[in-house]
Amino acid sequence: MAKAPPDTGAHPDPAAHQSVLAASEAHASRAASPPATEEQLPDPARLANMLQRLSEIAGDGEGAVSRLALTADEREAHRVVAGWMADLGLTVAVDAFGNTIGTLPGQRADLPALGIGSHLDSVPQGGRFDGVVGVVAGLEVVRLLTSAGRQLQHPLKVIAFVGEEGARFGEACLGSKAVVGQLQPGDLQRLRDADGVTLGQALQALDLDPRQLPSVRWAPNELAAFLELHIEQGRLLESEGKAIGLVEAVAGNTRLRLRVLGRADHSGGTPMHVRRDALTAAAEIVLGIEQLAREPRRRTTVATVGRLDVWPNSITTVPARVTFYVDVRDVDGDRQREAAQDILTLAQQVAARRGVGLEAEKVGDSSPVVLPLWLRQRVRDVCNRLGVSHRVLNSGAGHDAAILARLLPAAMVFVPSHQGLSHCPEEWTSIADIATGVRVLYHTILALDEGLLENNG
Ligand code: GLV
Ligand code: MN
Ligand code: MN
Repeated sequence: MAKAPPDTGAHPDPAAHQSVLAASEAHASRAASPPATEEQLPDPARLANMLQRLSEIAGDGEGAVSRLALTADEREAHRVVAGWMADLGLTVAVDAFGNTIGTLPGQRADLPALGIGSHLDSVPQGGRFDGVVGVVAGLEVVRLLTSAGRQLQHPLKVIAFVGEEGARFGEACLGSKAVVGQLQPGDLQRLRDADGVTLGQALQALDLDPRQLPSVRWAPNELAAFLELHIEQGRLLESEGKAIGLVEAVAGNTRLRLRVLGRADHSGGTPMHVRRDALTAAAEIVLGIEQLAREPRRRTTVATVGRLDVWPNSITTVPARVTFYVDVRDVDGDRQREAAQDILTLAQQVAARRGVGLEAEKVGDSSPVVLPLWLRQRVRDVCNRLGVSHRVLNSGAGHDAAILARLLPAAMVFVPSHQGLSHCPEEWTSIADIATGVRVLYHTILALDEGLLENNG
């Protein structure tokens, strides 16, 4: 029998698995008191309630959320968020790809909007904070503006993107790629999930219209700036006791689907030396990938095999076929692609030596992105003014903001992840830390609303 894992302290509060709110109250009681000013502050209970409600959509009640891209569950989360947008007085639109956009009018309809947002899908058995934090943060900024009786000059858009996680189709950030014109009609057929469902079919099954993909594309000046609040998914902020991470570069990724073709045989009747075992070949390739990514010269490269499908997956049959996926990431695009190429060569060598076939396909490829310095400095100035500790860091994870940054100025604001854990049920960020992030976002929006006008008239 498996023993219970040791208490790693993954959840600082034992109530964490019961409800985001219950745990947040425990955190709030430990958090520093808010400053004694008239400033409108984010409401921790509202943030916790929204996160709790979203965690119940395709959640297992124990912290795990499996709300995959372009599923009915993801649509349900979008419907819930659309309802909250409408409650706040936003005009809600859903584009043909399923992205949900709530607009708060500004005093000047001629100005491009400021944007805040993130995504609502999760990986299988993911956590309750990745993505949703950035969307509920946008809603809370709107509430702060309205309750302060402030109307911005610029319109403000809160955006929930579809399908940010690459877990289902291999390719990540589908909704944001659609709006920047980085997703082509051919991708609707090319991208398919492990069951063979194409991206186009998935959209149709949800009553979305893949033929309208070109209509989803934004004009280059659609937003004056975009801000994404996100959990760090790393350990730097917590270990250094910093409240806010200001993202400089977001890693790119290259994703490969490899299929090893061996021969099914009886597990009892087939001597070892005549086998063509697809799984042992795949295992050698997987270990080779780990070794390759650990070579000191690769520096910032990481490579992961997180999914293997074994066929026929029977105890008593030598595996005939293994399909597995390799996720290579780096903040250096040349190294990222060089590592992917080296992995391909390695796989071919192992397959040839073991007498098995190999099919390889690149299913996703996104370059690293450096975010604009001037916008990061605006966020930094706000942190300094508010007395909020911060540091500059890179993101190993991909994000919608990095995709949008190809079209318009985008910044990412990170809040600490407990023990750096993410893409797992133990993913945890305290509501107090999220509220600090919302406060920074709110003041950055105010500063941009004035500052951009000063620059542009
Ligand atoms: C998003 O979470 C990613 O996998 O980078
Ligand atoms: Mn995310
Ligand atoms: Mn994620």
